[in-house]
Amino acid sequence: MNRKIALITGGSRGLGRNAALKLTKKGCDIILTYRSQAEEAQTVIQEIEALGGRGVALQLDVGASSEFDAFVARVKSELQKMWQCDSFDYLLNNAGVGLHKPFAETTEADFDNLMNIHLKGPFFLTQKLLPTIADGGSILNVSSGLARFTLPGAGTYAAMKGAMEVLTRYQAKELGKRGIRVNVIAPGAIETDFSGGIVRDNAETNAWVASQTALGRAGLPDDIGNAIAMLLSDESGWINGQRIEASGGMFL
Ligand SMILES: NC(=O)c1ccc[n+]([C@@H]2O[C@H](COP(=O)([O-])OP(=O)(O)OC[C@H]3O[C@@H](n4cnc5c(N)ncnc54)[C@H](OP(=O)(O)O)[C@@H]3O)[C@@H](O)[C@H]2O)c1
Repeated sequence: MNRKIALITGGSRGLGRNAALKLTKKGCDIILTYRSQAEEAQTVIQEIEALGGRGVALQLDVGASSEFDAFVARVKSELQKMWQCDSFDYLLNNAGVGLHKPFAETTEADFDNLMNIHLKGPFFLTQKLLPTIADGGSILNVSSGLARFTLPGAGTYAAMKGAMEVLTRYQAKELGKRGIRVNVIAPGAIETDFSGGIVRDNAETNAWVASQTALGRAGLPDDIGNAIAMLLSDESGWINGQRIEASGGMFL
């Protein structure tokens, strides 16, 4: 059986790395991107190979849409070189950073940075990659529980994620004719490097998250990697245009 190929933005660490390994175990090869952590990205490629998969790590700043044409050309060239094909099957729009700042203090530069990374980036990257995504493939955007519940200081970030949730439904509607499914996963608070690693490293924050979560703990990368692999793969073939929250039941 041919292995599927998944393209994961922000695969060098955290949720993207975990998803890359879970997808490899499900029989996928991986193209992952990193922004600055080339060595960590290369370590993930070695982990993929140790699991019997194949992968390549490419540099990409998802906030710099002027670089997307060159990136797409690089993806096409790697597809030919490594897999002798001209399309991949699954796209995970995952790369991102947080911002904790009240609405009243948020600058235009803060806003533009988050918009470029979390909305304009995935919008135009997906658009430019469309001809390279196989018919019958799937796209998963990454939102956040914060697009549903409201914590002070997260408004700008959450607004971008909310926009991606709306865009997901339109993408699903328009790409359905090619058999491409589009969904959005909304993780709760997960123990990664995100936002300075606060959920993982700050005991008080971790305990507070656990206290607000029906399953009684903060999320772990495995909780999300498994869900991502399931939602991208054909076993979720009739799930389309949906927001799926993976938060252990935060703020129910
Ligand atoms: N962790 C949570 O609690 C949580 C909750 C809800 C949603 N999310 C979302 O889940 C996604 C992944 O978060 P995470 O927890 O895995 O974060 P993370 O551990 O900090 O990893 C972030 C990843 O994104 C990459 N990245 C950051 N800025 C980028 C840019 N401008 N261009 C390209 N790549 C960039 C990083 O690359 P480098 O390694 O090269 O820096 C890294 O691979 C994000 O979209 C985040 O908003 C996270």
